[in-house]
Amino acid sequence: MSDLTALPADFTWGVATAAYQIEGAVTEDGRSPSIWDTFSHTPGKVDGGDTGDTACDHYHRVPEDIALIKQLGADAYRFSIAWPRVVPGDGPVNKAGLDFYDRLVDGLLEAGVTPFATLYHWDLPQVLQDRGGWTVRETSEHFAAYASRVVERLGDRVKDWATLNEPLCSAWIGHLEGRMAPGLTDLNAAVRASCHLHLGHGLAVQAIRAASSDARVGIVNNLSPIEPASGSEADLAAARRADGHINRWWLDPVMGRGYPQDMVAEYGVELPLRAGDLETIAAPLDWLGLNYYFRQIVTADPDGTAPHARQVPVPGARLTHMDWEVHAEGLERLLLRLTEEYGVQRIYVTENGSAYEDVVAADGSVHDPERVRYLEEHLAACARAVAGGAPLAGYFAWSLMDNFEWAYGYAKRFGLVHVDYATQRRTVKSSGLRYAELIREHAARRDGRTAA
Ligand code: FCB
Repeated sequence: MSDLTALPADFTWGVATAAYQIEGAVTEDGRSPSIWDTFSHTPGKVDGGDTGDTACDHYHRVPEDIALIKQLGADAYRFSIAWPRVVPGDGPVNKAGLDFYDRLVDGLLEAGVTPFATLYHWDLPQVLQDRGGWTVRETSEHFAAYASRVVERLGDRVKDWATLNEPLCSAWIGHLEGRMAPGLTDLNAAVRASCHLHLGHGLAVQAIRAASSDARVGIVNNLSPIEPASGSEADLAAARRADGHINRWWLDPVMGRGYPQDMVAEYGVELPLRAGDLETIAAPLDWLGLNYYFRQIVTADPDGTAPHARQVPVPGARLTHMDWEVHAEGLERLLLRLTEEYGVQRIYVTENGSAYEDVVAADGSVHDPERVRYLEEHLAACARAVAGGAPLAGYFAWSLMDNFEWAYGYAKRFGLVHVDYATQRRTVKSSGLRYAELIREHAARRDGRTAA
């Protein structure tokens, strides 16, 4: 039994999803293609040739899915808005696209669920990619213009906004490793993209605040604690570089420290920034989102690409279906690092979760004890971090339901709710029931009564 008593009384209990992973309806109501439509339809890019064309068909099932959130007892829902639904090209705003999110937000509020909206969860309109995507400055400006339109429409009801989800993945995995859209393997493009993502973030912060005076704005980063594989000087240096590549590059500029100079030297790419950009990027935020999945143990990799550090397997590690190590202490360490080293004043765990090979039992139930244990261990790590001083305001489980797991397609299931893709039937797993129970217990403690 995990001890969660340290979590604050007003702790936010959430679940998270992202547009392309659940919505489907990719050609409906004026949506235009995004880089993920292109990527997933390119043979060989996604396991099993899966695409987000139908996904969880959430676009047509909003009331049912809000009922699920309610059933889990979550009091907040983090979702993303699909840019290609709202501004399909660089033409006028697509009213029908915004109408969809308008209905979603109204439905959430009616159900007593607080909306947390992410403006960019990787689905760049393909028309902008065709003009250079994140490697060109205009994309940052287009992003801020799109953010304005969304917040003008929804900002009376949505107060919590995230600009970008995991810009690391967009830049490093999308432009350097090529495993995500747009699928490039070019360090120069990746570094340029990272700066333009940051600039887009900063410009969007300004746009959101201009459109909504009481907005609370954050950015969502995926971070990993880094450890050297050995005590050798080469591995220690590799760990410093990997920390720069994975953590500091994404925190420092946003937190007003500029880009880490050791990494600028490591990449050897001139940053495409102008006077004033660093100030724009460092616009004050109301909260920081942390997505946590695993730690990384690294060794020097002189023959590889920047950052010349390679992740090595952890002997005897517990692994999820993604082959990611289960290591809840890493979450505690990151929360304390954000608090102590970066002085962050308000943090949300905006994603945390695990994929397992779920089996539907004969009676239709889905029993997922490993995910239950994962959830309990990570929430306990959150509570320890709070006890240690971390200003953690909430936790969003990834994910509300099984969905399109990017390059892994539908084979990897992260949901608290199981989705049968043939019938679109949703079934709350044991982990979803356990989450609901933990939420009830927390509320009961807060209100000084015993959980029903
Ligand atoms: C994160 C993504 C999210 C989901 C999880 C498993 O990197 O933000 O969309 O795919 O991983």
